[in-house]
Amino acid sequence: MKAAVLHEVNKPLVIEDVSLQKPGPREVLIRTAVAGLCHSDLHFMEGLYPHPLPAVLGHESAGVVEQVGSDVTYVKPGDHVVTCLSVFCGTCDNCTTGRPVLCTDTSVKMLPGASNRLSWARSEKLNQFLNLSSFAEQMLVHENAIVKIRKDMPLELAALIGCGVVTGYGAVVNTAKVAPGESVVVIGCGGVGMAAINGAQIAGAGRIIAVDTNPAKLQLATKLGATDIVDPRNGDVVQQVRDLTNGGVHHSFEVLGRKETAEQAFAMLAPGGTATIVGMIPFGQKIELHGFDFLRERKIQGSSMGSNHFRVDMPRLIEFYMRGKLHLEDWISAKLKLSEINEGFAAMKAGKTVRSVIMFDA
Ligand code: APR
Ligand code: ZN
Ligand code: ZN
Repeated sequence: MKAAVLHEVNKPLVIEDVSLQKPGPREVLIRTAVAGLCHSDLHFMEGLYPHPLPAVLGHESAGVVEQVGSDVTYVKPGDHVVTCLSVFCGTCDNCTTGRPVLCTDTSVKMLPGASNRLSWARSEKLNQFLNLSSFAEQMLVHENAIVKIRKDMPLELAALIGCGVVTGYGAVVNTAKVAPGESVVVIGCGGVGMAAINGAQIAGAGRIIAVDTNPAKLQLATKLGATDIVDPRNGDVVQQVRDLTNGGVHHSFEVLGRKETAEQAFAMLAPGGTATIVGMIPFGQKIELHGFDFLRERKIQGSSMGSNHFRVDMPRLIEFYMRGKLHLEDWISAKLKLSEINEGFAAMKAGKTVRSVIMFDA
């Protein structure tokens, strides 16, 4: 099968012929239908996060089950599924206390470099990425890395739920638990930030302020639920938000992964407010906060994959879509072939797209 391989950081992905092992007892072979391009893939391609190379990236996808291992009962061939990198064991302390996203069982949630599912004709090892590797015509994953979905859900929209949508929505609903009427700021309105805005609207937030440097993104944010927009090019972002909210917000979400914007997210809080960091700040980089701000009970926290319980959250997100509350069709900026993947990342780098998706049947 064909897959896009990252050989070296800051080099284009190369389409190569690769193979997968036969499914082990609890593994599922999936024919990939759609894979979204997420900024996290780009962070790894740019070397801002380390990963053993060569590797097949991609972690936002939907497809159809082709074959199942001997102990798999959850799905059967023909089932439609969405993948999630938050693979869980179901029995460790974090799984059994309701935080499967923090699962610590490394036999299920394998650490980078540990998986031997992918191979090719060369002698060097080919690494699986985040237990998924979606930039490939097929994926071999643990059965607890997928959720079964209804067959009338378009797979290109379902794929988006697999990372960007559950990450942004979950940050608002699961991690920050935004209450009706509370004010929300989302800094960075790409695929993940748009989902945070749409999630804030579903949660019944009051003011929803979108911050982005791209006017087209701000316009779409308004359609998805933003009540106000802030363009950093019009002056200090923190001051603009304070002016709009009478002194500060209840909840801010950093959905970009930069030191500067993470510091802005904390500085714009009202007393008692909470900043939630969704973006992946480059590995090793520290952020600086004004210590005095903690005296007024301001808080800052991380959110991983929207603190999801994806087997529950993703089918619910699909129901929201079906009822017209989640505007997934607005996310897709471009549909690409696997061979066009580098153009897709170039467009992301230029900030042009909300989401580009690879359509494997195209
Ligand atoms: N302030 C606000 N917005 C900005 C700024 C800035 N200074 N600079 C760029 N942006 C906007 C871009 O215009 C773009 O709309 O941030 C957005 C980033 O969107 P994407 O590149 O599509 O990123 P996305 O896939 O949404 O991921 C965002 O979340 O999960 C993490 O790893 C992911 O760190 C990444 C973040
Ligand atoms: Zn992602
Ligand atoms: Zn676990």
